[in-house]
Amino acid sequence: MSVNGGLDRFINQIAEGDCRELLPQLPHECIDLVVTSPPYADQRKHIYGGVHPDEYVEWFLPISAELKRVLKPSGSFVLNIKERVVNGERHTYVIELILKMREQGWLWTEEYIRHKKNTYPGKWPNRFRDAWERCLHFTKQKQFKMFQEAVMVPMGEWRHARLRKLSDNDLRRDVSRVGSGFGKRVANWIGRELAYPTNVLHMATECYNRNHAATFPVDLPAWFIKLFTEPGDVVLDPFIGSGTTAVACVRLGRKYIGFEWNPEYVRVARERVAQETSQPNLYTFAEERAEYEA
Ligand SMILES: C[S@@+](CC[C@H](N)C(=O)[O-])C[C@H]1O[C@@H](n2cnc3c(N)ncnc32)[C@H](O)[C@@H]1O
Repeated sequence: MSVNGGLDRFINQIAEGDCRELLPQLPHECIDLVVTSPPYADQRKHIYGGVHPDEYVEWFLPISAELKRVLKPSGSFVLNIKERVVNGERHTYVIELILKMREQGWLWTEEYIRHKKNTYPGKWPNRFRDAWERCLHFTKQKQFKMFQEAVMVPMGEWRHARLRKLSDNDLRRDVSRVGSGFGKRVANWIGRELAYPTNVLHMATECYNRNHAATFPVDLPAWFIKLFTEPGDVVLDPFIGSGTTAVACVRLGRKYIGFEWNPEYVRVARERVAQETSQPNLYTFAEERAEYEA
């Protein structure tokens, strides 16, 4: 018999099927973090289940409604997405989606930028090569689980020069002039090795992409998993593709639930997870740290 309202049969599984049919099978408020990169808005049909840009918001809203239902009140939803260029200008579907999701009751808490460090060079007549994507952070309430210490980064060499000679301002709390109530005291950082990161994530476009052309690097879901969950928490990726989110969960000791409708990607994802499980602790996130230090 199934316990947890049916949750247990999905735990640590890549389920094959349409997420619009699988999501309703999950109980209410059982997920700690949703992190996903949905199919592209694409004018061509059948590109990873691509959806026409003009129909993207209408297509996504029933899915985000379900994600809101299954997410715990303390949980987070991270949506990796980027608007495409259509007829020579950026389409507005991401902006429209944010507005509609707010109407759905989501808080648009933050926007992180995924800086793709090593994109291929190229030349376009009216813009430069695209080297960043949005990671939109939605929550259900203002208080949510966040473990900022888990993603701290080395302070960097700049601190030796900056903190050597402090001004009077640096020694007292400098309150923000925009009235936010926040303030900073530069002297607090003397002697510290680690600092909090910014909301720009500099990541190499890794890639395990032998069998899937739209993978994100393991470091991307891993960063958000460390930031928004604790070991043992449940992470859902409703468009899991080649299983990258599941791989990150295995490495970090979180439970995963993945949905994917393409049987070949399901096979690849399961294979990757099995390989990861049979060779634990190969990956230490040293590469990620090196990325930040570079
Ligand atoms: C951008 S890819 C995700 C790639 C993934 N982050 C990775 O690292 O491999 C989107 C995936 O969603 C799948 N997909 C599209 N529509 C779907 C649906 N309705 N239900 C489940 N999977 C779907 C596609 O087959 C594709 O693999």
